[in-house]
Amino acid sequence: MSLSGSIQFHVNGKEYVVNNAQLGVSLNSWLRTSGRLTGTKVLCREGGCGACVVMVTKNHPGTSLTKTFSANSCLLPLLSVDGCRITTTEGLIEDGGTYNVIQERVAHFNATQCGYCTPGFVMTMHSLLQRNPNPTQAEIEEEFDGNLCRCTGYRPIFDAMKSFASDADPKLKKICQDIEDLKICRKVCEDKNDHCYKSCGRYEADGSHPLVRRPKQDAPPSPPKPLMFRSQIDDDAVVWIRPLTLTELTHRVKAFVMDGKTNIRYVVGNTSTGVYKKEGKFDVYIDSKEVKEFYAATDSDNTLTVGANVSLNDLIESCQTHSEDSEIFPVMAKHIKKVANTPVRNVASWTGNIMIKKLHPEFPSDIFTLFAAFNVKIVVYDCVTEEQADYSLTGDNNFMDLDLTGKVILACKIPKVTPSKDRKFKALSYKIMPRSQNSYAYVNAAFSASVTNGVIHNASISMGGINKDFVRATNTEKYLEGKNVNLELTLSGALEVLNDEVIPVSYSAVETSPEYRKSAALGLFYKFYLYLCDTLPANAVSAIETLERPVTSSTRTYDSDASMFPVTEPIPKLSAIKQASGEAKFISDFSNHTDELFATYVMAEYGNADIEDIDLSRAEKMPGFHSVITAADLPPEIRNTLTRPPMQPQPILADGHTNFAGEPVAIVLADSELHASEIAKAVVVTYKNIRHAVCDLAEAIDREMFYEEGDDLERGDTEKAYHDAKFKVTGRAKIGAQYHFYMEPQVSKAIPTEDGFELKMATQWQYMVQQNCAYILGYDVNRVNLRTGRVGGAYGGKGTASWLSGAIPIVSSYITGRPVRFTATLEQCMETFGRRSEYIMDYKIGVDSDGLLQSIEVDYYANCGRFLTQAEYWKGAIARFSDSGYFCPNWKLSGKNVRTNMPGTAACRGPQATQSSMFMEMVLEHVAKVVKQDPMVIKQKNLYKSGQVDLSGATLTNFKLRDISQTLLTNAGAAARQKEVDTFNKENKFKKKGLGFAPIKVVIAWDSFCFGSQVSIFASDGTVILTTGAVDVGQGVSTKLIQVAAHILGIPMDLIRVSETTNIMAPNSGPSAGSITSEMCAKGVLECCKMMKTRIDAATEKLQLSSDISWKEKVEKCFYEGVDLTAHYWVYPTESVAKRYSVCGAALSEVEMDILTGEYALKRVDMIYDCGKSVNPEIDVGQAEGAFMFGVGYYTTEKLIFNPENGQLLTHNTWEYKPPASKDIPTEWNITFLKNEEEENTSLSSKAVGEPPLLLSSSVVFAIKRCVESFRNDGTYFAIDMPASVDNVQQLCKVKISDYKI
Ligand SMILES: Cc1cc2nc3c(=O)[nH]c(=O)nc-3n(C[C@H](O)[C@H](O)[C@H](O)COP(=O)(O)OP(=O)(O)OC[C@H]3O[C@@H](n4cnc5c(N)ncnc54)[C@H](O)[C@@H]3O)c2cc1C
Ligand code: FES
Ligand code: FES
Repeated sequence: MSLSGSIQFHVNGKEYVVNNAQLGVSLNSWLRTSGRLTGTKVLCREGGCGACVVMVTKNHPGTSLTKTFSANSCLLPLLSVDGCRITTTEGLIEDGGTYNVIQERVAHFNATQCGYCTPGFVMTMHSLLQRNPNPTQAEIEEEFDGNLCRCTGYRPIFDAMKSFASDADPKLKKICQDIEDLKICRKVCEDKNDHCYKSCGRYEADGSHPLVRRPKQDAPPSPPKPLMFRSQIDDDAVVWIRPLTLTELTHRVKAFVMDGKTNIRYVVGNTSTGVYKKEGKFDVYIDSKEVKEFYAATDSDNTLTVGANVSLNDLIESCQTHSEDSEIFPVMAKHIKKVANTPVRNVASWTGNIMIKKLHPEFPSDIFTLFAAFNVKIVVYDCVTEEQADYSLTGDNNFMDLDLTGKVILACKIPKVTPSKDRKFKALSYKIMPRSQNSYAYVNAAFSASVTNGVIHNASISMGGINKDFVRATNTEKYLEGKNVNLELTLSGALEVLNDEVIPVSYSAVETSPEYRKSAALGLFYKFYLYLCDTLPANAVSAIETLERPVTSSTRTYDSDASMFPVTEPIPKLSAIKQASGEAKFISDFSNHTDELFATYVMAEYGNADIEDIDLSRAEKMPGFHSVITAADLPPEIRNTLTRPPMQPQPILADGHTNFAGEPVAIVLADSELHASEIAKAVVVTYKNIRHAVCDLAEAIDREMFYEEGDDLERGDTEKAYHDAKFKVTGRAKIGAQYHFYMEPQVSKAIPTEDGFELKMATQWQYMVQQNCAYILGYDVNRVNLRTGRVGGAYGGKGTASWLSGAIPIVSSYITGRPVRFTATLEQCMETFGRRSEYIMDYKIGVDSDGLLQSIEVDYYANCGRFLTQAEYWKGAIARFSDSGYFCPNWKLSGKNVRTNMPGTAACRGPQATQSSMFMEMVLEHVAKVVKQDPMVIKQKNLYKSGQVDLSGATLTNFKLRDISQTLLTNAGAAARQKEVDTFNKENKFKKKGLGFAPIKVVIAWDSFCFGSQVSIFASDGTVILTTGAVDVGQGVSTKLIQVAAHILGIPMDLIRVSETTNIMAPNSGPSAGSITSEMCAKGVLECCKMMKTRIDAATEKLQLSSDISWKEKVEKCFYEGVDLTAHYWVYPTESVAKRYSVCGAALSEVEMDILTGEYALKRVDMIYDCGKSVNPEIDVGQAEGAFMFGVGYYTTEKLIFNPENGQLLTHNTWEYKPPASKDIPTEWNITFLKNEEEENTSLSSKAVGEPPLLLSSSVVFAIKRCVESFRNDGTYFAIDMPASVDNVQQLCKVKISDYKI
């Protein structure tokens, strides 16, 4: 809705005036569309990913001083940035084009892969350095709690950023020095009249880099002015005001209330819209940020009064400033640091947080839990009666019961509590989260009590996440009053009372189980109780503490071969600087066509129902509406299917019946993305014959919902071997699904051309999209041309899933005759586009007396969803992956692809291998328990030896997995550390440590894909363009191809460029997947360059050119000699081309676990991986790290939970779905690449790395398992169902109330 009035602000030093701004437009959306500043990215639009972070400079209304901070531009309403100065990553580039030092370091430290997250990291760092030019390493690591990166595993990002630290590691400083020394002049050298590729010191005109660059000279932030906007359509429909004083605000509110406009929304940080998105619309929006009185802070002897608008980060600062005044301030400061993330806390007010709790009592608010425990009062002003009153959060006069109509929160009053000589006052708080940071609490708690001569008084116990009415454990508080803290009886009695009064309720399937929350609540109370006691049993002391995550460190060890440079040279990714500076263009960054339409779609609400009606009556009247396309609207010549025969047809749009929740029901076309999304919400779909949507794999197995029988795979005689086996091990293993979480959403744009369509899209598999789109339209394939530049992460999720993101715009464009752009929301990506398949494996294992595997029988069940996009269980894949690194003489594998009401699966990083390898690790763990041997020993015993034939039928020659494992365990000091772990575990009852070991073998196959490559040299200047079927999804293939071409042609890399991928230049190419694209395309480029070199050498000889001649001259002469300067090579897995080889690796992970909460910290990871002769070890180490953390997320934190009624995915955003954050990485991380070895079955001896290291992360799960075992100490075997989340593993500990002792 447009509002009349204008706002003014600066972006990167330039002033903008926006008239008639639209309600609902965020700063992000303005920057990316009207501002044409696409360096700032967007994904979640809820403050959860950090892709959109910008720096804001404004006058602080409380102090009038200029304040600079990072903020999520996706949550900032454009209307609220009036008067602000905004800096985006583009704004850091100096006049004259010099990159900012942060951008440079990000590039040189190789801290970017796909680059979609990178500008957000750069801006977070820049904002930090503006605020604090000398941060410590710890402060820097803390700052990135709001930035997610799915590619890198964070380590190189941390390194780049920590190089700015006042206490930076000398190694990092040395790299920075090297960066300065390495600066290369990009100009044409006057002396040589040719490109200069050496360091000549002329790169920087001023020869130095100030560490912290200030943004360009910019006008100071404008003084705030009152604003008033009304909707243009109906003068009174919506009002947005920005008062500057409390008097103005209260007068206005009074007038609105008198006018009957009671539906008022105050806008402070506006971050609550990232949590509860469906609130509103309101009659009046009051941007109350500029009201000076809302920032007042008064400090009296016994109270600290804090204004309503004080941000969470400012509240932390206040608490720290006054930490000497009260025992509770340090506790509050520490806890609030765990709320949300830095950019959110910079703008979010404590009031907004308390208000979320008031409006949604089930919200596990951290601020509410703290305030309720520490008796904070809320000061409320009634604008109508003009009276002010204090309210408490518990008991009588309760703020939660107050009708806030016409009222406004002014401040809170935090009472100070100071201990006296004989009265100890103690306070503590805890927050249990699914990952280390940036998450709401599963359970939170805050406690305080006084202890006088061992007697407890005034205990306060507040907890969140229990149920919507639970605030304080008043019965337990009463029970404790006057009791002797040092008596066992007091503790057991209190636990009994607490056990009765803590009654967790689940309001949604995403919540952790009531059993877990009850156990966690009791555990947290026990921690606090221990804190109160005068003396403690030694083994319980550590239970009090929360797990610490110290500053991370790492080592990387690899070789390179100077004779092959730049091949094997560890150079940074060549496009890294563009990614850091925001110059890199992703599909959604390209300008709009003037007549472009924006598409989105309406998702099916029910996973198995008939569609009764699609009502457009409201949608059609909305601003920007163009049209809605349903299955019934498709012209007869369009086929409503995403796939060509013989594949199972899969509708583009649900036709009368829904197959899974999230299925597209209607395409909405509008004049902007915002309008399209608003209109889609107004389309009303009604359903009939609603049936149960089966999403649970076990249920589908029971109901025998199978696709066609899969193939069986048999080796040897399992029946006999099992019969003869000394030990028989049977069980069921469950391994869940995973969402890819690519940071760039599905995005595509169809442009009608004279004879067909151009389709610009982020896809890994152009060929299949082209075929399918042509089939849908009934076109010849040559009428559909795909173009893909860079892709912002894919991990398999932009392969088969791209069929839909191609179909939506092309069908819309066909029908409307206009260019159509489609960008999926995060929710759509997660609900519609498929995910890694979930597996269940039933196993029967025979083992001899020594623990050696004799027979393995497995029934695999894979959840394939409603459409068999790709069979999960098929003989080829199972044969390649099922054995992982383990030998067994007899195998019988059979499997079923199971049908459920879910989208078809989309291959995800290491498909099938990931589940199979984890499964084998689980089996070996089970075997170890049954034969009563150490799993590390059992695993090593059963590894393949050279000469043995693996399950895929390959004879393993020079097979190194045993050596790798042994070397890893020796170098990592496994034996000594195990002793330390054992000692630690003996000495600590509720903190446990564990070492987990995982060796892996993966068969890499070239024989399923094919790629075209073309190398062309331009005669006029000798520059070279490479075109292949590979898509750079962040894996660095473009850089590697340039390295290969430079090596073979013998020219500098600066002369070579890789073009975008198109199916005109590289038709019929396979998907960029399976870890082998880089190798196969390197082979293609290698052969092209060899051809080219042969031709050029022949011409050189014929023309008798001098050896001094420059490359440019030589090429020109060849051209005039008639040499064809273009070469093409088709890599197809014929006999002459490499086919298959194995990669191996091993990892040892150490974790520390808090038994009472289930949280764990990854203390140390050591990995060895065989990458062959890596073409670029820095890029490949990055791949290995990224893959490892991808696996850590898969196996431990990422949960896909469905609504059991309608099959809707409930964990469909960053609020609920938790890929690892930066503090989840190992505190110490050591990676070694096996020394360079020749490998004849690959190109240039390099080996695949994109996927296999993911499998090494199963070691983390087994380290956690060791911790659980150590606590249980009962010798029994138990399975860990994946993900091994905080709540799941805590429940496995089976903690009993009787375990709590003092
Ligand atoms: C990514 C993310 C992660 C988060 N993680 C956590 C977490 O870990 N723990 C946690 O507890 N919370 C978390 N939150 C919630 C966060 O703390 C709140 O969104 C934030 O504090 C709200 O403050 P705000 O200023 O942005 O409020 P706004 O969104 O501006 O306003 C919120 C509500 O407060 C009302 N309001 C504002 N001022 C007044 C006033 N003076 N008088 C009366 N009503 C008023 C508004 O009308 C509105 O209803 C998270 C939020 C996000 C986006
Ligand atoms: S897009 Fe703003 S935080 Fe994700
Ligand atoms: S580089 Fe961070 S998400 Fe790709």
